[in-house]
Amino acid sequence: MSDINSSSRRRFLVGAAALAATPAVAGLAGPAPASAAGRDGTAEKVTTLTSRRRLGRLKVSSIGLGCQTMTGRLYGPVSSREDMIRIIRTAVDQGVTLFDTAEAYGPFESERIVGEALRRVRDRVVIASKFGWNIDPDTGQQLPGLNSRPEHVKRAVDGMLGRLRTDHIDLLYQHRVDPAVPIEDVAGAVKDLIRAGKVRHWGLSEPGPQTVRRAHAVQPLTAIQNEYNLMWRGAEQQILPLCEELGIGFVCWAPLAYGFTTGTINPYTRFTQGDFRAFVPRNSPENMTANMPLVQLLSEWAVRKGATPGQLSLAWLQAQKPWIVPIPSATRTSHLLENIGTEEVTFTPDELRDFTTALNAIQIHGERLPAPVLALSGVEAPLPR
Ligand SMILES: NC(=O)c1ccc[n+]([C@@H]2O[C@H](COP(=O)([O-])OP(=O)(O)OC[C@H]3O[C@@H](n4cnc5c(N)ncnc54)[C@H](OP(=O)(O)O)[C@@H]3O)[C@@H](O)[C@H]2O)c1
Repeated sequence: MSDINSSSRRRFLVGAAALAATPAVAGLAGPAPASAAGRDGTAEKVTTLTSRRRLGRLKVSSIGLGCQTMTGRLYGPVSSREDMIRIIRTAVDQGVTLFDTAEAYGPFESERIVGEALRRVRDRVVIASKFGWNIDPDTGQQLPGLNSRPEHVKRAVDGMLGRLRTDHIDLLYQHRVDPAVPIEDVAGAVKDLIRAGKVRHWGLSEPGPQTVRRAHAVQPLTAIQNEYNLMWRGAEQQILPLCEELGIGFVCWAPLAYGFTTGTINPYTRFTQGDFRAFVPRNSPENMTANMPLVQLLSEWAVRKGATPGQLSLAWLQAQKPWIVPIPSATRTSHLLENIGTEEVTFTPDELRDFTTALNAIQIHGERLPAPVLALSGVEAPLPR
């Protein structure tokens, strides 16, 4: 068998194995070993992620792992905390180096899980965390609104270091721009933290473009983290060109549109009580029905390319710029391994043009976030007094 044929076959088998793991079955089985059985029963070794990308001067794996959902408090319960730790360790073994968390995830619990999972491989991985919500540093109680006052940021980072079991955070983001605090003050606090060796790089999440310029002028930014997926491409208007101009990397949150672009949720999906996805307007049964042409497009291309819809979604994001890094979350090993398998999926220039043309023709229905959360995106920080 030629290399090309063998590679396509492997891609097909890895994809097929991951697709065959229905959520119910995978959930009962817990994390699977890092191999997958092909349709003919032969064990196929799954892809190890070897490709690396640069966010500014920070080198990371071409796909990271989002660890927000591992608390079981956002998208419904997870199998167990131990399983989440095993998934993170499997990700390390399979070549993932970028792990994304935040003090707000839980609050605190996601950072604790990440810290425990990575403590023995700390020097081999990049840990990204975030401050910015108004969380009591002592109790973890979520108070109303945002809080990026410098003294609060510094206390928040000390708490993060304890939970993450480390003496430094590789990439620290402001989670949302605080409309009450000049970004120059925030950047100054981060500069102090970098001088103290507690933080290596920093970034902003969902900022306004002028805030990016002002922050970057005080303390150069390494990454912007915004939602970017096949259903929401808002970053293409101003933020991606700005990242290119300033040499800032871009990290896509919800790169699978909360799972919709994998084809595993659809109008008939019923979310468990409290699952955040149920409150996202784009996920109403009516909007999901109207958005099914996107899944159709991905499914057709998945067959054509010997990949899964989710892999194509991630590969398309990566194809936009070499400094774009998706961080899909996964609380099932099968999903993690499938996402890592994106490494073997590439578009030729013609394929990229054809796919993008078809994508552009699909109208997406429904807002990407509930209105109160959406209002926190694209905010410009006040000017210094
Ligand atoms: N900066 C911010 O404001 C912000 C906001 C939101 C998220 N984030 C970060 O971005 C990360 C990812 O975002 P997200 O979790 O909201 O959205 P996402 O990664 O687009 O979607 C995650 C969902 O897709 C499912 N999934 C993952 N891989 C799959 C596959 N191969 N096949 C089928 N389903 C698959 C997951 O299922 P399972 O869990 O069952 O595996 C989960 O339900 C978060 O963990 C967090 O670190 C940042």
